[in-house]
Amino acid sequence: MTVRLEPWGEDDLPLLQALLGDPVMMEHLGGPEAPEKIVERHHRYLGFPACFKITLDGVGAGWVGYWEHDWQGELVYEMGWSVLPGFQGRGIAAEGTRLALEAARAGDGPRTVHAFPTPDNGPSNAICRKLGFTLLGEVEFEFPKGHFGTSNDWVYDLTATTGG
Ligand SMILES: CC(C)(COP(=O)(O)OP(=O)(O)OC[C@H]1O[C@@H](n2cnc3c(N)ncnc32)[C@H](O)[C@@H]1OP(=O)(O)O)[C@@H](O)C(=O)NCCC(=O)NCCS
Repeated sequence: MTVRLEPWGEDDLPLLQALLGDPVMMEHLGGPEAPEKIVERHHRYLGFPACFKITLDGVGAGWVGYWEHDWQGELVYEMGWSVLPGFQGRGIAAEGTRLALEAARAGDGPRTVHAFPTPDNGPSNAICRKLGFTLLGEVEFEFPKGHFGTSNDWVYDLTATTGG
């Protein structure tokens, strides 16, 4: 079983539709995204260097990405991830996220990565814990735009020599 990250591609719209258009998948993320928003997002991801398709043995299984975010007065990376139901529970999201942390570490952007899963998102919080993020506590977080709710604030230090 080989998990890899590939740049987001022209043919990856159906993958994004399956990830973001499914009410079960979006339970902790404010509900499914509207079809036209998913198309817009797909085009944004195409031009975005740190947005990856997670593949399992070459097959698209999910998405992981990071982007700059102004958080409490500091420029940090925010990281997010998502794996199709048929591929869940096999460590694919954790491995994809570990690879994304490596990519961020190799770059020259912010040295701090935050992730903001809701407290009831068991698998996502487990991934943060497993990869060596530190839980700072609960915060009010805006997602999707205009909607504020409680999230956990996890932080990962890219200058640390170990982790993940
Ligand atoms: C979060 C998500 C990406 C996890 O994908 P996945 O490939 O199943 O994740 P992994 O298999 O790598 O790891 C899941 C971990 O969570 C654990 N886990 C699963 N359900 C859990 C629960 N209810 N409570 C606590 N831990 C749980 C698993 O045991 C596993 O840890 P382990 O490897 O130490 O056993 C997937 O559920 C998803 O796409 N959800 C919808 C989108 C989303 O919520 N994204 C995150 C936004 S911050």
